[in-house]
Amino acid sequence: MTLLSGRARSGSLRGFILHIHPAKIASETLRFSLTFGLGGISVMLVIILAITGILQSISYVPEIGGAYTSVVSMQQGGNFSGWIRNIHYWSGNLLIISAALHLLRVFFTGAFSTGRKWNWVVGLGLLFLLFAANFTGYLLPWDQLSYWAVTIFLNMIGYIPVVGSGLAQLLRGGDEIGTSTLSTFHAIHTAVLPFCLAIVLLFHFWLIRKAGGVVQRSKTSDSSSEMVSVIPHLIVRETAVGLCLLAFVLLFAALFDAPLAEHANPGMSPNPAKAAWFLMGLQELLMHLHPVYAICIFPALGLFCLLVLPWINNSSLPKGNWFGGKKGRQLTLRVFGGSVFMTFVLLVVDEKIKSAGEAIATDAVTRGFIPLSITIVLFIAGYYLLTRQFTYSRAEAVMAGFVSAITVMICLTVTGVFFRGPGMMLLFPLV
Ligand code: HEM
Repeated sequence: MTLLSGRARSGSLRGFILHIHPAKIASETLRFSLTFGLGGISVMLVIILAITGILQSISYVPEIGGAYTSVVSMQQGGNFSGWIRNIHYWSGNLLIISAALHLLRVFFTGAFSTGRKWNWVVGLGLLFLLFAANFTGYLLPWDQLSYWAVTIFLNMIGYIPVVGSGLAQLLRGGDEIGTSTLSTFHAIHTAVLPFCLAIVLLFHFWLIRKAGGVVQRSKTSDSSSEMVSVIPHLIVRETAVGLCLLAFVLLFAALFDAPLAEHANPGMSPNPAKAAWFLMGLQELLMHLHPVYAICIFPALGLFCLLVLPWINNSSLPKGNWFGGKKGRQLTLRVFGGSVFMTFVLLVVDEKIKSAGEAIATDAVTRGFIPLSITIVLFIAGYYLLTRQFTYSRAEAVMAGFVSAITVMICLTVTGVFFRGPGMMLLFPLV
């Protein structure tokens, strides 16, 4: 600790640290259970990805003829090249998870309201960039898994009315996934997105500083948190979390190889053919709803609600307190349980209807408009029930809506990833 602070004080490291952090922070924000270090973990993963990405680009060949072979030789070669690929792959996936968990912590500790509203929006932008980075990186090995996962998602984009097919065509660089798709994805993955991510991340950090550090518990009149200096108090904690994460990623990557299937074959899709795991929720939705509703209307509505959340929920949840307290925690648990149950029941019932030969999957009324209307009615009814019949506040009722929407998406993703077998058959017990 003394060594670190001494070195930092004398050098530019201290200046750098104090550019990203304020000099002093409230001691109560050092509590690990407030943030679980998820923002810091995400930063560390971004750094690991940047370093391993640069190292990989030494041997990767961004051409159809050489991409797969270069990845195979990386995986089998010496010089730790397989290990570096594994670290890059697992870190990218872990980053999606850590950023999503960070979003949840920001939400559940009420850290997206006053003074932080725009940082919530910037955070959503970051999440979009992470999805885009993972998605474009997915194609680069040019194996069966990556080729078909990208094919499926570009076909999904094609369902967006008006702009969809043009956008898919633009990303593909033509009618088929081929040379220009690979070079476009490679350029976006290695130049455009890292640049955008760096700029948006700096803006994210600046907004955290501007808000005076991370959220604090709502103060009572007689409580005021003691202020402590960032060096060493916060820096020691950040270094400890960073080193533990590094050790975990390095070990995990040494034990588990990143997947690599056979060379991409545009003439034969694997069975089942699945999108990347973080897009499986959408693919699963597409199996139950009309494509325009599954790919466009429902996600757009969800995204819109996420964007305006700080403005509709800027009220009474006590900040810096998970779920706003005991009452909110119980509500969250009940809504979570109920949503898991309802989602799996609906999935099974829908599967039975489809296996009974009903040919309505493409009907925009029964598979689109009616489910959409029912969803909206359920959300509004739930809101009124919680605020009028029960004693929940507006913020708690909005939190319940958020919990149910996120839970449904998680259940759909889990179903798509783990419970869809050959022919995309549902593999639930009893189905
Ligand atoms: C690459 C992805 C991201 C990185 C590296 C990142 C990094 C960080 C860090 C280091 C902090 C401060 C410490 C902490 O809260 O753990 C933070 C706070 C914050 N982040 Fe992120 N973040 C990312 C994505 C997101 C996302 C997806 C959202 C939400 C949509 C978000 C919204 C916020 C907000 C509102 C704060 C302020 C929280 C507070 O004041 O307590 N961030 N972020």
